[in-house]
Amino acid sequence: MKVAVIGTGYVGLTTAVSLAMNGHQVTGIDLVASKVEKLRQGISPIYEPGLDEALKKVLDDGALTFYTDLTEAKDAEIFFICVGTPEAADGTADLTYLLGAVSDIEKVHSLAPQERIVVIKSTVPVGTGEKVAGMLAGCQGVSVASNPEFLREGSALFDALEPSRIVIGVDNPQAAAGMEELYNGVKAPRVITTRANAELIKYASNAFLATRISFMNELARLSTALGTDIVTISRGMGLDSRIGPQFLRAGVGYGGSCFPKDTIALL
Ligand SMILES: NC(=O)c1ccc[n+]([C@@H]2O[C@H](COP(=O)([O-])OP(=O)(O)OC[C@H]3O[C@@H](n4cnc5c(N)ncnc54)[C@H](O)[C@@H]3O)[C@@H](O)[C@H]2O)c1
Repeated sequence: MKVAVIGTGYVGLTTAVSLAMNGHQVTGIDLVASKVEKLRQGISPIYEPGLDEALKKVLDDGALTFYTDLTEAKDAEIFFICVGTPEAADGTADLTYLLGAVSDIEKVHSLAPQERIVVIKSTVPVGTGEKVAGMLAGCQGVSVASNPEFLREGSALFDALEPSRIVIGVDNPQAAAGMEELYNGVKAPRVITTRANAELIKYASNAFLATRISFMNELARLSTALGTDIVTISRGMGLDSRIGPQFLRAGVGYGGSCFPKDTIALL
């Protein structure tokens, strides 16, 4: 399929490369001209195992190209929105970049109207897909899907190629079929549901993982007071298949680009 990926940061670049590897014709779009220039030369702005080699291969094959202007991808059947949704001053998700991307899509669709799916991959609050669908209501043939990303930084390309699950939120069967065609051949359980369910699955997953870390840190304080060993306790808990060993290590608390902003946005 012909795919445009708007925003070639962590998620967008990984999405673009993995879709190109899976046989799609992909155009990556980013506002930052210097980033686009480097990407064209096969220089990735992030380090992820396997990404540099994969990027060079899909560039050489002609399966992935990069531009700053979305009109270069006006014949795309799928528009992925992968822009940042940072924390606003009041803790909510700042949707400025997302709304900018939606207005870019609206303009490009009016130049080349056709059946297409706008896929929100950025992490967005429940109701955003509905809002975007309302904004694009005048664009004949456009469906809006939610398809949150669950990649882990450090194994991003592997996770994009072999995801734990593919969550797709849609409001019509044609959009569901289009998303199935896009991910045809990717072996992973599907959760095909409403846009709102898909949006909350993403926040719920991150909040749950953050809760496990915070729980272990609370337990470490108790463990210190009791003179017990939190590492042994974590191991003893994690061997229970109902609990599992992941995200069960006491430490300095959680950080990174997503947990802090996503837990506050959920709250
Ligand atoms: N980084 C992760 O591990 C991760 C994992 C899962 C989900 N997410 C979510 O995915 C989204 C993107 O995160 P990221 O880490 O890739 O962000 P990022 O900041 O690395 O990349 C965003 C990119 O979008 C570009 N951009 C912004 N507006 C644009 C527009 N109108 N047109 C073209 N390009 C535009 C920016 O220049 C930037 O390069 C966020 O909602 C984030 O919460 C991130």
